[in-house]
Amino acid sequence: MIPSTNQRPGATVLFIFGGSGDLNLRKLTPALYNLFIDKYLPDRFAVVGLGRSQYTDDSFRDRLKEGVQSFSRRKDGPWDTFAPAITYLQMDAGDAGSYAKLPDFVGGKEQEWGERPNVVFYLAVAPQLVPGIAENLGELQLCGDTSHVRIVVEKPFGHDLKTAVELNALLGGLFAEEQIYRIDHYLGKETVQNILALRFANSLFEPIWNRRYVEYVQITAAETVGLEGRGGYYEGSGALRDMIQNHLLQMLCMVATEAPVNFDANEVRNKKVDVLNAIRRIKPEQVKDVAVRGQYGAGSAKGKDLPGYREEEGVKPDSATETFAAVKLYVDNWRWENVPFYLRTGKALPEKATVISIQFKAAPDFAFPDEATQTWQSNHLTIGIQPAMDIRLGFQVKRPGQTLAIDPVEMVFSYRDAYDGQDPEAYETLLLDVMTGDATLFMRADQVEAAWKVVTPILEAWECEAPTDFPNYAPGSWGPEAANALVEKDGFQWTTK
Ligand code: BG6
Repeated sequence: MIPSTNQRPGATVLFIFGGSGDLNLRKLTPALYNLFIDKYLPDRFAVVGLGRSQYTDDSFRDRLKEGVQSFSRRKDGPWDTFAPAITYLQMDAGDAGSYAKLPDFVGGKEQEWGERPNVVFYLAVAPQLVPGIAENLGELQLCGDTSHVRIVVEKPFGHDLKTAVELNALLGGLFAEEQIYRIDHYLGKETVQNILALRFANSLFEPIWNRRYVEYVQITAAETVGLEGRGGYYEGSGALRDMIQNHLLQMLCMVATEAPVNFDANEVRNKKVDVLNAIRRIKPEQVKDVAVRGQYGAGSAKGKDLPGYREEEGVKPDSATETFAAVKLYVDNWRWENVPFYLRTGKALPEKATVISIQFKAAPDFAFPDEATQTWQSNHLTIGIQPAMDIRLGFQVKRPGQTLAIDPVEMVFSYRDAYDGQDPEAYETLLLDVMTGDATLFMRADQVEAAWKVVTPILEAWECEAPTDFPNYAPGSWGPEAANALVEKDGFQWTTK
């Protein structure tokens, strides 16, 4: 929602495949409920949960209410006014014959409302079900209406470049590109969207946002949790596919992009694709120098005993899947030539923190006496994505007193202090954007493929050579030692400060 879209969407029917699943329970319905409270939903709105389980409308609503009470940012409020918009339709997504129910439902609403609604098909299902559902939807005459009908596809978008290209080809054969909304929920986060505002709504930062002033950029997405019962999915994925190929590369694009000339969806995405295409291709023999993988073993963190990754349900006892990945990339263009971008992510790390740190080149210190420069630090601009939502500018001041000593200090902007903590969740923003037809924060086909191209050499090298040292980090640590070496050999340290 980068451009201001405070208009409410027109009449909408939202179908959720996987209606009784976790994503709907934890994210989608709570997001819709908050949009409803904030009066962003149209008066003519219906959300239809689809699934094989048996529910009546009432029992389905009750289940979703439990989800709201556990996971919504607002747990109380006018649930009873919202609930009548929810319907449940039992259907087997594998049964082509049952898809006729969908246009029937839309037709009924069209008659009732006296206007043609937008129709959104949200595929909140396991990735292997996506092609089949898309094919069945593609058969519906309804889907030929490119201005009213949209399809939302969750990540993972393909398993590698080849499968992503195949999936794009399949979807592209059934829907127009402007109907396809590929979700990367990081793009819906307020703090991620704010990067463009910070950079381009201020004249202060842009002149120094380049290789002449920036020494390096770090992006960390650390999680304390392990698998949370997702072994079946994660075992075939790993940190590089699960986080770096999408969320971290998208944040890199926000930091590195040129200014768009407007906030048209394709203009913004063109600029991001330029960044991805400019990322220096890693040669197979370079992978060991620029990429590090890790897997957590058993141990304890914060006084709690934790099983090792290989002991988690759904994980092979000799699994080679990485739960930690760190990479060093270069963006080969005029702005960023030779500025390293270090990206790292992992599970079972000491803190939940997603942070982007822009480190500037050091000021020359020769005018100051030696003792004044003991604590010398170069400037940094740190963007806290979550849970801290803040921007911190680090600079140096003279310590008060009769001697000339220099101290590093920080100037802090905190979203929570400034705005009362009422920031929308990513899924609120993204669902509203789908309903209003704004694709700016969604991944276009070429964007997904360009991101796969960046990680492909690493995936291939890691697949060719099984790790010999797994598990190689303890839960509650910052990953394998080699991750530190990746930055230390360039003279730097990892930071979330
Ligand atoms: C998902 C990954 O895309 O993002 C998960 O599949 C990860 O493994 C999650 O835990 C992190 O999202 P957030 O918003 O909690 O940082």
